[in-house]
Amino acid sequence: MPVISVCFVCLGNICRSPTAEGVLRHLVREAGLEGKISVDSAGTAGYHAGDAPDPRARAAGARRGIEIAGAARQFKPADFARFDYVLAMDQANEQDLRELVPNDRAALAKIRLLRSFDPASPAGAAVPDPYYGGDDGFDHVLDLCVAACRGFIESLRREHAL
Ligand code: 4NP
Repeated sequence: MPVISVCFVCLGNICRSPTAEGVLRHLVREAGLEGKISVDSAGTAGYHAGDAPDPRARAAGARRGIEIAGAARQFKPADFARFDYVLAMDQANEQDLRELVPNDRAALAKIRLLRSFDPASPAGAAVPDPYYGGDDGFDHVLDLCVAACRGFIESLRREHAL
């Protein structure tokens, strides 16, 4: 069975998407699914390219034993060929992704909102940008990512018979 590849996408790739990446990697390991699911993240904007995740995101993860690491990069149209799932944090990210490949149906079909995998989440719900807020915002992002990534793994189990 080929590896299922996932890329989380936010705006800067320093807060939300690296958090989701760390959370999914953690849950994949917990579920014994390493080697079956590969995880990455990127931003629709390139202005933090090369930067480490925000220290507040790293600290929030560390408090729960979740490593949040990596270097920011911008999501490029060619990335659609590399990933099976491209999971956006909010509707602006989703729209920016769509605008990269307006006529490519196969690529467009890979774009989903991350929280659409959380059965308790309302339709269209976002992982809100914590960048300009306080530390609680980063804890909230983690909670939302954990709930959605649990649902995502369940969905992968059903769709791909993992
Ligand atoms: P992220 O958060 O999209 O979750 O990585 C942001 C990071 C940086 C900025 C905005 C959002 N910024 O404007 O620099």
